[in-house]
Amino acid sequence: MNITDIIATTDGRGALKTKVVIIGAGPAGLTLALMLQKQGIECVIIENRSREYVENRVRAGLLEQNTVEVFEELGVAERLHKEGLVHHGCYIAYNGVVQRIDFQKHTQREVTIYGQQEVVKDLIQACLDRKIEILFEADATQINDFMSNEPSVSFTHLGQNNILHCDFVAGTDGFHGLGRKMLPKESYNEFKIEYPFSWLGILAYSKPSYDELIYAFHNNGFALASMRSEKVCRLYLQVPNDEKIDNWSDAKIWSELENRLEIELDKGEIFEKSITPMRSFMIDNLQAGRLFLAGDAAHIVPPTGAKGLNLAIADVRNLAKAIVEYYKNGSEESLKNYSEKCVARVWRVQDFSNFMTYLCHKQAENGSFEQLLQKSKFDYLRISEAYQKTIAENYVGLPYEAF
Ligand code: FAD
Ligand code: DHB
Repeated sequence: MNITDIIATTDGRGALKTKVVIIGAGPAGLTLALMLQKQGIECVIIENRSREYVENRVRAGLLEQNTVEVFEELGVAERLHKEGLVHHGCYIAYNGVVQRIDFQKHTQREVTIYGQQEVVKDLIQACLDRKIEILFEADATQINDFMSNEPSVSFTHLGQNNILHCDFVAGTDGFHGLGRKMLPKESYNEFKIEYPFSWLGILAYSKPSYDELIYAFHNNGFALASMRSEKVCRLYLQVPNDEKIDNWSDAKIWSELENRLEIELDKGEIFEKSITPMRSFMIDNLQAGRLFLAGDAAHIVPPTGAKGLNLAIADVRNLAKAIVEYYKNGSEESLKNYSEKCVARVWRVQDFSNFMTYLCHKQAENGSFEQLLQKSKFDYLRISEAYQKTIAENYVGLPYEAF
């Protein structure tokens, strides 16, 4: 009998037990579940939103080759390969002067454009096909006794309070989740930058008039041209933090995108519009006893480097490996080193995301020291293969073995 049936038949008073409780059905939680299931380790995912909600949440779009390879190993990359768009480079522009970054030449690697909603749909379907239990609309309210070997998670589901006992708890519950709040405050240092600008993002039924992504610095502010398919574009504009979406009519969005990107766009119907603040955030410890954090629960990077989802997958790869080692040969070595291993990569990705953010956004008055340094970086980018390679190798994703 599965957990849902036990809850239904016992009014939640039955003793519910699994090996690993995973809080959150985002990319991190779902991928972790599939990795554990592949090694025969039972787990249950608790997700406070509905399936429909998580499958339609519009977010990231760019997958490192590392991430694609993880999905291939898990047997969940079939649709991704059919519908995803493989890119071998991107453009970085400064007031209309364009430099291509050639991933193929500098790294022999590639990236794939495939919407996060599609990733989440594929992962949920694979979990359900493989009989991994996901409790949707189940809100984790407390993580109990995680400093002992018998932790548990309290949650509410269909109006009932329940407790699920386990050996390990994975806090893959995003930036606003419960996991990080439970971690003892004295166990970590916190670092954060809140940038003085946000991104207005749109999805539109338009044919991309560009073959690769364009990251554009412009005196009016940054713009990014991305895509989802031959028929759908994803585009972003830098806006002030207090900007109201109502100030941006569709016509104004298209006109400002064309102005900043300095290309003509196919101005189709805009069907999604939202404003996202930009922040860098991390804590430098991801674990306490039997509680382990992964993904946005532990760190946020500004999206300019396209790294958030990819970093979440790198974390859970380490966590799955550590948990598997524990069950297969009783070794706690990788569990002990989990946080240290993840944090090394997190710092690298924080640096690259911060670098791309300062490189591409309008922050300083023309003629100021900061603005002239920024311009100098673009001048250098145009003449230096080494600088291009540095951007390429970070952008496509450094190998997992590096950290
Ligand atoms: P989430 O996706 O946030 O999942 C956490 C889950 O936990 C959620 O489903 C939430 O409902 C659930 N939850 C929270 N609290 C509870 C609770 N108490 N009980 C039960 N469930 C709970 N990343 C990239 O790699 N490439 C990009 O191009 C990129 N672009 C981006 C563009 C934008 C505009 C934004 C906003 C983000 C972008 N990102 C990008 C970042 C990426 O979307 C995130 O890093 C990614 O979603 C992290 O996955 P996660 O599983 O850690 O967290
Ligand atoms: C996308 C988002 C990003 O933040 C980025 O750097 C590249 C692409 C996207 O949504 O397609």
